[in-house]
Amino acid sequence: MPPVTLKIDRHGPVTLIRLDRPKALNALNAELLRELAEALGEADRDPTVRVIVLTGSDRAFAAGADIREMAGMTYPEIFRINLYADDTGRIRATRKPLIAAVAGYCLGGGCELAMMADFIIAADTARFGQPEITLGVIPGMGGTQRLTRLIGRAKSMEMHLTGRLMDAAEAERAGLVARVVPAAELIADALGTAEAIAQKSQIAVFAAKEAVHQADEMSLSAGVLNERRLFQSLFGTEDQKEGMNAFLEKRPPVYRDR
Ligand code: CAA
Repeated sequence: MPPVTLKIDRHGPVTLIRLDRPKALNALNAELLRELAEALGEADRDPTVRVIVLTGSDRAFAAGADIREMAGMTYPEIFRINLYADDTGRIRATRKPLIAAVAGYCLGGGCELAMMADFIIAADTARFGQPEITLGVIPGMGGTQRLTRLIGRAKSMEMHLTGRLMDAAEAERAGLVARVVPAAELIADALGTAEAIAQKSQIAVFAAKEAVHQADEMSLSAGVLNERRLFQSLFGTEDQKEGMNAFLEKRPPVYRDR
């Protein structure tokens, strides 16, 4: 059955997934999270897909977890079903590069979802925040951890305690987003970036993604050792020979993912 909360399009080797609950500013309800986890899993399994771009609308990437859906829930219920654990685990486990292209509101669970991507490209209209404190709760999809790692404790703490929003320029300065582009160019820019990644050796891309993410999980010395081993292991690939020979022969490389 096609998803009802997402629009999915192919652009060559890139899958573009659009969150599509416009009436609720793309609030993340259970159905959307399940469909997104499934769509990412499918893209991961499809050998013709090399990179995934996740976006929302001009007005909102996503305005948070669905408040209407969770307002009446009780602690025993939310604990028993372990709300958000399964789907966010599956989203985070996506192996192919995942770029979040963010315009408009990117709040609460929306900001947490964007931070689950490998990096964020923001439109100049983007506004980020973790406003859960205003609702009498705190983030539940990793916001306190990922935002703190990305922008540092002072700014993260201030945002979590006050619920204030951050504009795109501040988000870029703080290290939350990779780049800011004019809103009208957001999708073309994200697709172009994805296309550039799609041209690389997929084995090296997987290794780079894995190594960078380990920076959040490992000590510096363990992370550097892990990186060195991954680097060394790439010398067992044909793509390493092709990449380096192509450079020496002054021609573009042709990678075969071997
Ligand atoms: N959940 C459910 N519905 C939402 C929503 C959300 N997070 N955010 C917006 N909507 C709905 C509104 O209820 C409204 O629906 P109706 O037309 O049926 O009333 C519609 O989207 C449009 O929203 P507004 O009329 O409020 O639009 P606005 O332009 O005046 O304001 C906004 C935009 C500032 C983003 C405002 O909607 C807002 O503050 N939203 C909530 C943001 C928030 O608190 N997010 C955190 C959610 S909790 C969370 O995410 C927990 C977690 O970490 C897992």
